[in-house]
Amino acid sequence: LADEQVPTDELLSSPLDACVAGEHIEAFPLPHALYGEGRRNSTGADLTCLVQRRPLDEAIAKTHVPPVPEASTAQIELAMGTLHTGFEAWSARPLAERAAIIRKAGDLLDARLAEFCGLLVKEAHKTLGDCVAEVREAVDFCRYYADQAEQRLAEQTLPGPTGESNTLRLHGRGVFVCISPWNFPLAIFAGQVVAALVTGNTVAAKPAEQTPAVAQRMVELLREAGVPEDALILLHGPGETVGAGLVADARTAGVCFTGSTQVARLINRALAQKDGPIVPLIAETGGLNAMLVDSTALPEQVVDAVVQSAFRSAGQRCSALRLLCVHEGIADGVIEMIKGAMAELSVGDPALLATDVGPVIDDEAFTGISRHVERLRREAKLLGETALSAGSAAVPRLVAPIAFELPRISDLRQEIFGPVLHVVRWSGDVDAVVREINALGYGLTFGIQTRIDSRAARLAHQARIGNVYVNRNMIGAVVGVQPFGGEGLSGTGPKAGGPHYLYRFCAEQTVTINT
Ligand code: NAD
Ligand code: ALA
Repeated sequence: LADEQVPTDELLSSPLDACVAGEHIEAFPLPHALYGEGRRNSTGADLTCLVQRRPLDEAIAKTHVPPVPEASTAQIELAMGTLHTGFEAWSARPLAERAAIIRKAGDLLDARLAEFCGLLVKEAHKTLGDCVAEVREAVDFCRYYADQAEQRLAEQTLPGPTGESNTLRLHGRGVFVCISPWNFPLAIFAGQVVAALVTGNTVAAKPAEQTPAVAQRMVELLREAGVPEDALILLHGPGETVGAGLVADARTAGVCFTGSTQVARLINRALAQKDGPIVPLIAETGGLNAMLVDSTALPEQVVDAVVQSAFRSAGQRCSALRLLCVHEGIADGVIEMIKGAMAELSVGDPALLATDVGPVIDDEAFTGISRHVERLRREAKLLGETALSAGSAAVPRLVAPIAFELPRISDLRQEIFGPVLHVVRWSGDVDAVVREINALGYGLTFGIQTRIDSRAARLAHQARIGNVYVNRNMIGAVVGVQPFGGEGLSGTGPKAGGPHYLYRFCAEQTVTINT
């Protein structure tokens, strides 16, 4: 299907998860493995479906990314004062009202899929497939957290002795600072903000410097859904000043951060050194994610999972595969097939349907990844790389997918946030391989490829890793289906899109009355 025009009257299904109404329908093609991701939303509806191409193209063509002003120190001060005061009214709103507003935001977003895809392509340089999946994920977060809030946060009467009533109440903490990364500028931004709002907190939101416009538009949409001006304020600017200023503010009652492990440490330190109340930190950070392939694995399945996990989104997912540990017995064959699949990938303009791998986010990322690749060209064995086509020269910051062989698992020490795959061969004790992976200290995602079920279960149990995927790719966790988040250097938990997430945004109160 790669380059074919799909006839307008023909409906082809795709595992992507968006359906938009209208007349001109084209399916997303499945030229390579990269779009082979099935997803469902929180309603459980089967969204294996069709995506209309024309509304997306039209939205991209007319999208203009507006500049946004940076917040000054005076604006941060004013915002925190407003949110601190606004907490009283927002937290007093009935839970059902707050949930209805967040649910409405999800519906509005759902209806504006094409518009947000336009922004995501233009500002974050995401491929069309990634844009559609990201808008769907943000919609899922709104609906899921609204549902979860109603199911889990209602006041509970607890059993107790006669003559006494005991109730447990969960309520918002105050002003929550939400700091988000550029790689999911809509889904992670929206997920953090709506979780904090629905639990009754007011929110100071600080999106990544690279993607302010997506956040700006999402906040406008939340206002349209009914979030008051004094419950949510967006503050743009550098992390080192605006982000750090919000963390340091005396009125900050909680911080929800997603980004690098290094910045999570800085925030953790800053919070620990503050006077006043102890402020909780939710930190979701990076990973050195491995996939372990044993000699019984199905090679075609391995290759499909590797190509999707390592190269989709140009490797700019926290969940992406960085380290493939493949059994010596099948390594040559698997590597040969991966090379073949890499040769098929199309690297280029993210707005084109046929593109599998778009650009990396900015010059700094491009330089950092390029340096790592140059070093490995000198120091490691090159296994394969995707050729850039002549036409791709016009697109800046393209990094061609590339794979190197390293001697040992411990040779990879640092998260490389791009389409670079590191391969290590192993033989002997499979449990020892998991111990070595654990020793890296990260714990975000882990892939296991084996046809021995008991081995898969044992290794999953041994791995100190938040999300384990057996015999499939290891990206694209679905809200409410695969709660997502790591441990160790990869984060504090709770898992986003999971049933325990909202509790961490809440304070708890027990009221005991002698009746
Ligand atoms: P980053 O840590 O550089 O920045 C994240 C956010 O923190 C940005 O908004 C930034 O402005 C802000 N920030 C920077 N310095 C700050 C400071 N001193 N105080 C307060 N805020 C500060 O990360 P990034 O480059 O935007 O995103 C990529 C990273 O995020 C990768 O490491 C990736 O693995 C991780 N990530 C993790 C998850 C997850 O769920 N675990 C999801 C997406 C991305
Ligand atoms: N939640 C995203 C994924 O699973 C990061 O790929």
